Amino acid sequence: MITPEQSKPRLILAPMEGVVDAIMREQLTAIGGYERCVTEFVRVSQTLLPNRVFYRYAPELRQGGLTPSGVPVYLQLLGSDPELMAANALRAAKLGSPGIDLNFGCPAKTVNRSQGGAALLRSPSLIRSICQRVRDCVPAEIPVTAKIRLGYDSDEQFQEILDALSSVALTEITIHARTKQQGYRPPAHWHQLRRARDSLPYPVIANGELWSPSDISRCSTVSGCNAFMLARGALCRPDLGAAVHAHYTGRDAPAFGWHETRELLLAFLHRNRELYDARYAVNPVKQWLVYLKVYYPQAAALFNRVKRITAPGEMETALLGELDLARAA
Ligand SMILES: Cc1cc2nc3c(=O)[nH]c(=O)nc-3n(C[C@H](O)[C@H](O)[C@H](O)COP(=O)(O)O)c2cc1C
Repeated sequence: MITPEQSKPRLILAPMEGVVDAIMREQLTAIGGYERCVTEFVRVSQTLLPNRVFYRYAPELRQGGLTPSGVPVYLQLLGSDPELMAANALRAAKLGSPGIDLNFGCPAKTVNRSQGGAALLRSPSLIRSICQRVRDCVPAEIPVTAKIRLGYDSDEQFQEILDALSSVALTEITIHARTKQQGYRPPAHWHQLRRARDSLPYPVIANGELWSPSDISRCSTVSGCNAFMLARGALCRPDLGAAVHAHYTGRDAPAFGWHETRELLLAFLHRNRELYDARYAVNPVKQWLVYLKVYYPQAAALFNRVKRITAPGEMETALLGELDLARAA
C-alpha cells in the first residue's frame, strides 16, 4: 500500500532568467518544499568561461552549492558545441556544483539564432551528442540532467528526441510540456509526459502550468510523474512548495497569507540592497509584485503604489507602511 509519505511529490524550483537568482532561491527555499534549484542559464558560446562567471550565476558555489537552507543548486548550461559544453560542465563540477543541467528549451530569438536552447530540438542527434559528451566528462557521482520541450514548431519530433536521449545515462530529465511555438501559453500537454516516461530509463520531471496543489495532483494522474518543476507558480505563490507537501501529507500548511508575503518582500528588498548597487535593488521587488498579482489581489494595489519608486529607502517605507496597514486592519 502506498502511504501518503511515499507518494509525496518531489519538487524542483525552476530556472528563470532575470527572475530566479540566488536571492530569490534563498527566499523560496527558506519557505520550504523544494528538493533542488537550477540556476538561470549560463550561455556557452565560444570559450571555456572563467570561474567568475560560474560564481556570478551560482554564488551558492561558495557555500558548497547549497542555498542557505541547504537545498542543492544545479548549474544550467546552454550551448550547442558538445566539447565546449563538456569543458564548461567539468569546470562547474570542479567548482563544486552539485549537478549540471543542460538547457534545450529556451525560446529566446537571440539564443535560437546561434543554435542554442530550443533550436536544438530540431536536431535530436546533436542533443544526444551534447548530453553524452557532458556525461562522459563530468565525474560519475555528479548528476547530469537536461531540460527540453515537446519540440520546436510541433511535437512531431518528440519521439525522435526521446529515442535519442534514451541511450544517454542522464540522471533525470525535465520536460516542459509545450513546444517552442506554444511559448508559455496554456494549456501544457501533460499527457505527452506519459509517453516520455515509457521511453526513458530515468525519471521524468513534469513542467508547465503548475500553479496549485490540485494542478500537481491532476498532472500526476495524467502524466504518471512524481516529480515536478515549478516556475511561474512558485513566484505567484511563494509557499506553493510547502502547500503541495501539506496537501499530500494531510498536515496543515504553514500559515502564509498576504501579511507573510509582504514581510518576505521586505526581506527580499534588504537582501537586494545588501548584494547589489542601490540602483538595482528596487526593480526585483516590482518584478516579483507583478507575479504576486496573479495570486494576491492586494499585490496589484501595492504595485500601483510603488511602481514609480526608484530609491530603496522609499520602497522600504512603502512596504513597512503596508505592514502597518495590515496590523491596523
Ligand atoms: C521569465 C522566464 C525566464 C526563464 N528562464 C529560463 C532559464 O533560464 N532556463 C530554463 O531552462 N528555463 C527558463 N524558463 C522556463 C521555465 O523554467 C519553465 O520551463 C516555464 O516557465 C514553464 O513552467 P510554468 O508554466 O510553471 O511557468 C523561463 C521562464 C520564464 C517565464
